[in-house]
Amino acid sequence: MAQQTALVLGASRGLGLALAEEWLTRGWHVIATVRTSSSDLAKLSNRFPGKLDIETMEINQVETIRALRKRLDGHSVDVLFVNAGIARVVPESPASASERDFLDMMLTNAFSPVRAVELLRDLVPAGGTIAIMSSELGSIENATGSWQLYSSSKAALNMLMKGYAAKHPSDGHALLLVAPGWVRTEMGGGDALLSIEESIPLVVDMIESNRGRTGLRYVDRFNKQLPW
Ligand SMILES: NC(=O)c1ccc[n+]([C@@H]2O[C@H](COP(=O)([O-])OP(=O)(O)OC[C@H]3O[C@@H](n4cnc5c(N)ncnc54)[C@H](OP(=O)(O)O)[C@@H]3O)[C@@H](O)[C@H]2O)c1
Repeated sequence: MAQQTALVLGASRGLGLALAEEWLTRGWHVIATVRTSSSDLAKLSNRFPGKLDIETMEINQVETIRALRKRLDGHSVDVLFVNAGIARVVPESPASASERDFLDMMLTNAFSPVRAVELLRDLVPAGGTIAIMSSELGSIENATGSWQLYSSSKAALNMLMKGYAAKHPSDGHALLLVAPGWVRTEMGGGDALLSIEESIPLVVDMIESNRGRTGLRYVDRFNKQLPW
């Protein structure tokens, strides 16, 4: 099989860094983005010489996405994975949270990822995959009230991708909203149930098993569909 390429947006640390490492370990070429720099990603680049390209982009600054698209002219990617995300005011509700924190999550977790997909989708040929990191917490049906405001931003992401899928029915892409489980990262915290190693290899397996299956699915790391 020809060299496969993954483009991971938001790969400086945590799950995005682990996605880049997992694909590199599997022999893929990876284009990974950071906002400024990442010593961990630089170390990966030394471990996999010539296999990792590090690019910059800030998902909320559209000109950085357009510039990235221009730099990637002539490239094609088998998997575009939008991982960047934030969690703010986790225990709070609209009664107590700052409006700014809520709006920042809606922008970073919902609006900007789907805008990035719109601007980069032509890098992915038919048969390729576009994935965005959603969350189990994005399910409206399963909502318990925990991480209420963050959950709302992931539900909004899911809704925006529903609209995206409806508007681009003929792209020939597998479209995945990914729920990786609750994982010990800076965002997930030390009490999270899973190590990164218990989540990300399964996420990559799941993406592989959806190759060529067009249409939008909201799935966990075991490829189980989640209720919207
Ligand atoms: N950990 C979990 O349990 C869990 C569960 C479900 C879903 N998720 C989702 O998985 C994704 C990764 O989470 P994580 O746990 O790895 O979090 P993390 O350790 O906090 O890492 C977040 C990543 O997103 C990047 N990022 C944040 N804002 C950005 C922006 N405006 N532009 C570009 N990059 C930005 C960060 O870059 P910087 O280093 O520059 O800040 C970092 O690479 C997120 O979408 C999160 O919502 C996580």
